[in-house]
Amino acid sequence: MNIYFPVPEGTYNSFSIRLLKDNIPVAGSQKTLANTAMTLETGTIYRTPAVALGPKKVLVAYFSFTNNTRSVAESMAEVLGADLYRISPTEAYTSDNNNYYDSSTRAYQEQYGPASVRPAINATLGDADYDVVLLGFPIWYGKVPRVVLSFLDTYDFSGKTVIPFCTSGSSGISAAESELHGTYGAIKWKSGARLNGYSGEQLKTWLAGHGIENSPMSLTVGNTVLAAELANNATAQAFGALLPMTLDMSELNGNEKYKYIDTDLPVNSACPGTIHAGDILLYGNNCVVVFYKTFNTTYSYTRIGRISDASALEGVLGGGSVSVRFGS
Ligand SMILES: Cc1cc2nc3c(=O)[nH]c(=O)nc-3n(C[C@H](O)[C@H](O)[C@H](O)COP(=O)(O)O)c2cc1C
Repeated sequence: MNIYFPVPEGTYNSFSIRLLKDNIPVAGSQKTLANTAMTLETGTIYRTPAVALGPKKVLVAYFSFTNNTRSVAESMAEVLGADLYRISPTEAYTSDNNNYYDSSTRAYQEQYGPASVRPAINATLGDADYDVVLLGFPIWYGKVPRVVLSFLDTYDFSGKTVIPFCTSGSSGISAAESELHGTYGAIKWKSGARLNGYSGEQLKTWLAGHGIENSPMSLTVGNTVLAAELANNATAQAFGALLPMTLDMSELNGNEKYKYIDTDLPVNSACPGTIHAGDILLYGNNCVVVFYKTFNTTYSYTRIGRISDASALEGVLGGGSVSVRFGS
């Protein structure tokens, strides 16, 4: 977690922080950073490196045969505002050719075949330029389905952070992880987990444990400050780099406020089906839209972020045009 607070100019040899609860110091909470010997100048904003702060480009890539892994992966992408990619073999697995118990079936033959077996995949991911990849798969005979290795052979994630997760009948992920670490040693692997049935808050907690969180943003309208978060995708990363920014937003359809900005942002649009009050989305490549009602849509958007609590949003934004300051 990052907390920001103003520090007066001056030269410091140590910093201490202490947590207060109801204005009373919490026992044992004091931490001191000694021998810092740093000089802070007035008028300068000091912060931890942007990569730790800002939105990351995160991909949730998954293979799923019976949709257990798919539902975890979809929920993960939704929680993070990350891109979602389904690893699909050019020849789909079917229940006829994939009976778990039948050693003549395709999955068994692949998994127990030579180490080089790689079923062909539909390689439609594009440039695969991500900071973090969350890689989901079912456990097949204790291991990673070979089709997932086809994915790792097709896209080069050397030096990138990849976090594996699996679903299974009962097997854990450790044998699969050993296989991945051994075969793809140039990837920066982080420890994975079996996430059967995980969704929403459970996933948020698990991801936060790996330092994958949505970075905070604020929207200020008049005297009201609304807490919001940026998505973890290329669009949000580019939007975050423009902050702080004040937009004079126009009213549309009794649902939304919008503004065409001067900068084109990266687009990866899809039709969300349902728009939720509090969604901050990009229409086309330069129209920022803040929605204050929930409704169904047939239009496509790219996620920028969302307002955490949209319950009073309609009243805050008012009936006409409104000036909104987006801050980091
Ligand atoms: C071919 C095959 C092999 C499997 N091998 C294992 C296994 O070794 N251990 C286990 O716990 N579950 C095993 N399972 C069960 C799946 O891992 C489990 O149902 C998983 O959640 C399926 O994910 P999916 O719905 O995303 O395909 C196997 C399933 C299939 C189809």
